[in-house]
This record gives sequence, C-alpha cells and structure tokens, in this order.
Amino acid sequence: MAATLAPLEPLNPARIPRHVAMIMDGNGRWAKQQGKPRLFGHQAGTENLREIIKACVEFGVRYLTVYAFSTENWNRPDDEVKGLMRILADALERELPELHRQGVRLRHIGRLERLNPVLMEKIRQAMELTRDNDRLDVIIAWNYGGRDEIVAAIEKIVSQGYPVEQVNEKLVADSLFTAGIPDPDLVVRTSGEYRTSNFLLWQTAYSEWYFPPVYWPDFNRVEFHKGLQDYARRERRFGKTSEQLAG
Ligand code: FPP
Repeated sequence: MAATLAPLEPLNPARIPRHVAMIMDGNGRWAKQQGKPRLFGHQAGTENLREIIKACVEFGVRYLTVYAFSTENWNRPDDEVKGLMRILADALERELPELHRQGVRLRHIGRLERLNPVLMEKIRQAMELTRDNDRLDVIIAWNYGGRDEIVAAIEKIVSQGYPVEQVNEKLVADSLFTAGIPDPDLVVRTSGEYRTSNFLLWQTAYSEWYFPPVYWPDFNRVEFHKGLQDYARRERRFGKTSEQLAG
C-alpha cells in the first residue's frame, strides 16, 4: 500500500521552476555520521533520488538534472568508483519499469565513453525505452564535467567546419550535451557547501541557487518543498531592473 504523504502548503503553479538541477552532496558525511562506509551513503542517496523524482511529478517540475558522477570523481578510491558504477547499473535495472510507468524520460549528459560497455548499453536502452515519455525528464549527469562539456561543444563546432561569423550563443548552446533542454531555473546543492563543482557552467548563468543545510539522503520532499517556496519568492531579473519587469 502506498504511504500517505503529509499535506503540504499548496505551491503557486505559476512559480514552479520548470527545470531543477541538483548537486546531491553529502552522502559520504551522512554515512560517516552513523559509522557506515561511504557506499552505504550513496545507496541511501539513490533511494532518496527515487523520492525526489516522485516529488518532482507531484510538484509539477518538468525537468530534473542530477549530478551523480563527475569527470573528477574518477579520482576517488577505486572501490568507491566501482561501487558507484554498480549502484547506477542496479538502480537502472530495478527502477526502470516504475519510472517508465510514471511517464519519466531518462536522459544522460556527459561522456558515455570510458564507461563499462555493459553499463553504457543499459543507459542507452533506458533512454530508448523512455524516449516518448513526457511527464518528467530525468537527466543523469554521469561522467559529466562542465568544462569538459564546453570542450566537447568546441570540438563539435570545429569539426563541423562552422565559419567564425556563425559562432554565437545559440550555436554553442545547441552543441552542448544539454541541447534542446531549457536552462535550469533552480539549482539545489545539499550539505551546506557553496560551490558549483564544474556543474552546468554554461547553463546556470541565470539560475537561482538554493543551499539546504542537510546531507543529500536527508533532502526529502518536505525540504524540497521549502526550496520551492523560497524560489517562488524570488525575483528573476536577467540583468533588467525591477521597474522594467513591472512595466
Ligand atoms: C556526493 O556526495 C555524491 C556523489 C559523488 C555521488 C552521487 C551518487 C548517487 C546519489 C547515486 C547514484 C545515482 C543514480 C542516478 C542512480 P559525497 O560523496 O561527495 O559526500 P561527502 O562530500 O559527504 O563526502
């Protein structure tokens, strides 16, 4: 039987961010706090992601991007890297049917190269199966780095032979891994750290940021709701003045 969710104050549908991006930070500290290995924290973080995906559907968020494995995370101890790869493979296997049923489209940003071919194939199959779903896009940043993404875009533009006069912001945006996906309206970084850590460097130029003081496994639906309430109170000016926006 599905657990009954605690009632929350209604959110103004006109003030819901279309795209929320999340830096799921603090799994290691969360585990350490209870004397458990780091992978225990990543496992708990994965279970939490399932709840956050459901909450996105509940609150009407249309795109969710999660920073799950960065290009720099390869430098972590070998057993943690292997453990994270296994957690992703298992999660895809276990969660895919339910995500598909909920109308979730799974997408990936980052370089698929360097991943184990079996994992690569699982990611491809999950994207293929869910490609026509349109309730929520869940975009998994895996082997992703913002600088690396910009390098990949330049490689693409140069290899396609664009003349310099045709290089503009639209061409760059269309050459990124996120081509066709709107920029994040809101970025959440849990655990009380205040850094971008190479996440969506181009796309977050005008995003709002929210830093809840809880570790990722504790960032639940209620905490997320608080973040959305905070976002709803903000004025996004995109370089203009308040008066211009009012006029
Ligand atoms: C950051 O916390 C978290 C990560 C580097 C991994 C996040 C991965 C998951 C939640 C699991 C897999 C995701 C999917 C899509 C199934 P940290 O390890 O840096 O924590 P710390 O700063 O406390 O050490």
